[in-house]
Amino acid sequence: MKKISFSEHGGPDVLRLVDADEPHPGPGQVRVAVRAAGVNPFDWRVREGQFPVDLPAGTGLDAAGVVDEVGAGVDGVAVGDRVFGEGIDTCAEFAVLTAWAPIPEGLSFEEAAGYPSVVETALRVLREVGAEAGQTLLVSGASGGVGSAVLQIARDRGVRVIGTASAANQDYLRDLGAVATTYGDGWAERVRALGPVDAALDLAGAGVLADLVALTGDPSKVITIADRAASEHGVRFSGAAHDVPAALATAVELITRGALRIPVERSYPLAETAQAHADSQAGHARGRRVVVV
Ligand SMILES: NC(=O)c1ccc[n+]([C@@H]2O[C@H](COP(=O)([O-])OP(=O)(O)OC[C@H]3O[C@@H](n4cnc5c(N)ncnc54)[C@H](OP(=O)(O)O)[C@@H]3O)[C@@H](O)[C@H]2O)c1
Repeated sequence: MKKISFSEHGGPDVLRLVDADEPHPGPGQVRVAVRAAGVNPFDWRVREGQFPVDLPAGTGLDAAGVVDEVGAGVDGVAVGDRVFGEGIDTCAEFAVLTAWAPIPEGLSFEEAAGYPSVVETALRVLREVGAEAGQTLLVSGASGGVGSAVLQIARDRGVRVIGTASAANQDYLRDLGAVATTYGDGWAERVRALGPVDAALDLAGAGVLADLVALTGDPSKVITIADRAASEHGVRFSGAAHDVPAALATAVELITRGALRIPVERSYPLAETAQAHADSQAGHARGRRVVVV
């Protein structure tokens, strides 16, 4: 089968389309014929060497496809089912999934591939930050994959959200139900003018933790997923995925009743995964980038 692989850490150009042995599912896993794979910043961080991995390595965590092998002990899913979920080296013709759910009616493979890890992350940080109905949540970096999910899930729960993004994404944030403002010079003053903030999420790692602590008045009301200086500010860094199957089930429920939609920013053929990494690494987004297999 064809697969994206890299034998050394480095820029997008280390990614190669290679012939590889097909993977097979272990106990509790399924294999899918991949139709689309979501591209997350985690993928280029691994490629660069920010997280340990044995080389040569594949890339890709999220996928949507058709189940074609079922591992021992797996119930409730059969060969031929359309599923989306998280797995191993999903930028490939076949991949093993470790967590999955049925793709909701009306969602294409391409769209479905954009959901798994952003929804898990969004549900996790909303739980950890503890924003409740009627409160105001500030989201720095609100228009990307995780931000798009956070804004819609918070709106669904009756939380008022103020989001920051570039000028180009202000209308996008408003469409997702947030009060929008731009990041950059004077952003904290612009937020202050919009009223008190009860809790805050840093989804961009843009060096704003001191301002988020000042705006909420309490470091325990701030969570970051992207700024390694968290502890210097007394802020919690959220980094470990939590109960992915439950997050996927919640995603299905939200998508099915029209409360959650993550747009596909752009799709790329498998052979152009390097371009998808480069575009993700540029740090600007409206939804999720997806590789189509
Ligand atoms: N710790 C975890 O568990 C976890 C999980 C998922 C992701 N992450 C990390 O979280 C980050 C976001 O992930 P993602 O998938 O949402 O990324 P993404 O889709 O690439 O979105 C990046 C976002 O950052 C915004 N941004 C760029 N410069 C900014 C600035 N100076 N101030 C505020 N916002 C700015 C962009 O807005 P514009 O496009 O409008 O410029 C865009 O909305 C990445 O660093 C990723 O590695 C961590």
